[in-house]
Amino acid sequence: MDDFDLVIRGGLVVNANGTARCDVGVRGGRITALAEQLTGGGREIDATGRLVLPGGIDSHCHIDQRSSTGGRNAESFESGTRSAACGGTTTIICFAAQEKGERLAPVVEDYHRRARQSSIDYSFHLIISDPSDVVINEEVPRLIDEGHRSLKLFMTYPRNRVNDAEILRILDVAKRKQALVCVHAENHDAIMYMTAKLLEAGRDSTRYHAWCKPPLVEREACHRIIMLAELLDVPIQVFHVSCEQAAEEVRRAQRRGLRVFSETCPQYFVLTERDLDRDQREGAKFVCSPAPRTEGDQEALWDHLRLGTIGNVTSDHAPYNIDELEGKFWAGDNAPFSQIANGVPGLETRMPITFSEGVAKGRIDLETFVAVTSTNAARLFGLYPRKGVIAVGADADICIWDPDRQVTITQDILHHDTDYTPYEGLEVTGWPAVTVSRGKVVWNEGDVSDEPGWGRFLARGPYDYIRPRGVLPTPFDPVTLTSRERE
Ligand code: URP
Ligand code: ZN
Ligand code: ZN
Repeated sequence: MDDFDLVIRGGLVVNANGTARCDVGVRGGRITALAEQLTGGGREIDATGRLVLPGGIDSHCHIDQRSSTGGRNAESFESGTRSAACGGTTTIICFAAQEKGERLAPVVEDYHRRARQSSIDYSFHLIISDPSDVVINEEVPRLIDEGHRSLKLFMTYPRNRVNDAEILRILDVAKRKQALVCVHAENHDAIMYMTAKLLEAGRDSTRYHAWCKPPLVEREACHRIIMLAELLDVPIQVFHVSCEQAAEEVRRAQRRGLRVFSETCPQYFVLTERDLDRDQREGAKFVCSPAPRTEGDQEALWDHLRLGTIGNVTSDHAPYNIDELEGKFWAGDNAPFSQIANGVPGLETRMPITFSEGVAKGRIDLETFVAVTSTNAARLFGLYPRKGVIAVGADADICIWDPDRQVTITQDILHHDTDYTPYEGLEVTGWPAVTVSRGKVVWNEGDVSDEPGWGRFLARGPYDYIRPRGVLPTPFDPVTLTSRERE
C-alpha cells in the first residue's frame, strides 16, 4: 500500500508565516508529511515552478440566499461551491438569513438542507433581522452551541436592518455565548434620505447609486457599531470596508486596543464609481453596497491591508442575473438605481484578482496574500489550524498556484451560474492550477472534478481568538449584570 494517497512534489509551500521548498504528503484527507522528498503516493502532482498554498477561505459569500434588496440569488450551493473551487477556494462561510417576522431555527434548517449539495466545506453566519425574545433567548444560544459561531447584522436594507437597540441585543447574546458579530455598516436613514432626494430630482440612473451612499455614510456606521461593541466589550468584524474613511475608523479602534477586525473585497480594488456611470443595463452589473469608490480609496485599502487594519479579502459574492425577470431587474427593465438588486459575483475571481493586483503588482508579499485569503479567516472564524495552513494534521485543503499564468477574465471561462462578471476583460497574472479539497482533486488544469455532496458542514466551537478583552467603559458589565465596584 502507498504511504500517501497524494504527494505534491517540488513546489514552494507558502504559509502566512513563511515559505519552504518541500513535498506535501496527504493521507485520509489530511496532510500527514512535509519533507524534502517524499515517495509512495497513489497520485502524484508535479508542482515545480508553482506555489503550494492553503486552500482559500471565503468568509463572506451569499449563496442561494433570499435577497436583501429584491431579486433571486443566481447561485445554488452546487454551482457556487464549484465556482469557488475553480478559483482556489476550499472553504466558504455563507449565510443563513432570517427576515423580519420569521423564527430563525427553521430558516437555518432550510439552508443546511440546500447546502448539502456543496462540493467544498462550508459554514454559516446567522443573519439576525428580527431579534425577538425567542430568537435571542432560545434560538440563537442553541444554534451557536450547534456550531454557528458568528452572527451577522445589517445596519441598512429595509428587509434586514436592525436599529441600535436591536444591535445591542445581538451583541449581548454574542458576548454571552462567545460568538463573533459581523456587520454591514452603512447609515440607513442617510441613504434613504439621499435616495428620495435624488429620485425627486429625476436622477435615477445607476451612477447615482454611488451618490446615495458616499463614504461618510459608511464611516458613520463603522464608528457607531464600534462604539456599541465597545460598550459591551464584544469583538466584531466590519464587513466589506470600501474606502479610506471607513478603514481609518477601524484603525482608530484597533489603536485603542479594541477587538475590531475588518475585511475588504476585490471589487474595491479594481472597480470605481465610474463603472456605475453607464447605461442602466451595464451599470447594474456594478451596483453593490458599499458602492465602488475612487482610485485613492483603492490605494488606501492596500495600505490598510499591509498595516493589518484589514485582515481578510472576501468575495461578498452576491449574484443576480442581468437577463432574468427576478435578477438585477426584478423591479422592471426601467427600474431606478434604488430598486436594482445589490451585489456582484466574485467567488472564482477573488484569489486571482487579489494575487494579481497585490502580489504581481508588488503591493503585498506572498505571505500576506496567504494570510488575507486564507489563514486570517481560519483564525478569525475558529477554523485554525484545521484550515488555513499547510501543516501536518491540517485538512488537505490545498491550492497549487501558477504565479505566472496570464489570464483575461471573461464570463465564458468562469463556472458560476451568474450570467455576467463585472471583471469582463480584466487581465490578471496568476491563476489556480489545481485545487484539492480534503485530499480530493476538484480542479485540475482546467478540468472540473467536483462532487456535489463532498463538502461538509464545519461546526465551530468556542475559541480564544475572539474572546472579549475584559475592558469596559464603566464598572458595570451589562451582559453579566455584575459590577467591579462595591455596592
Ligand atoms: O451589494 C451587496 N454587497 N449585496 C449583498 C448583500 C450585502 O452583504 O450587502
Ligand atoms: Zn453587506
Ligand atoms: Zn454581503
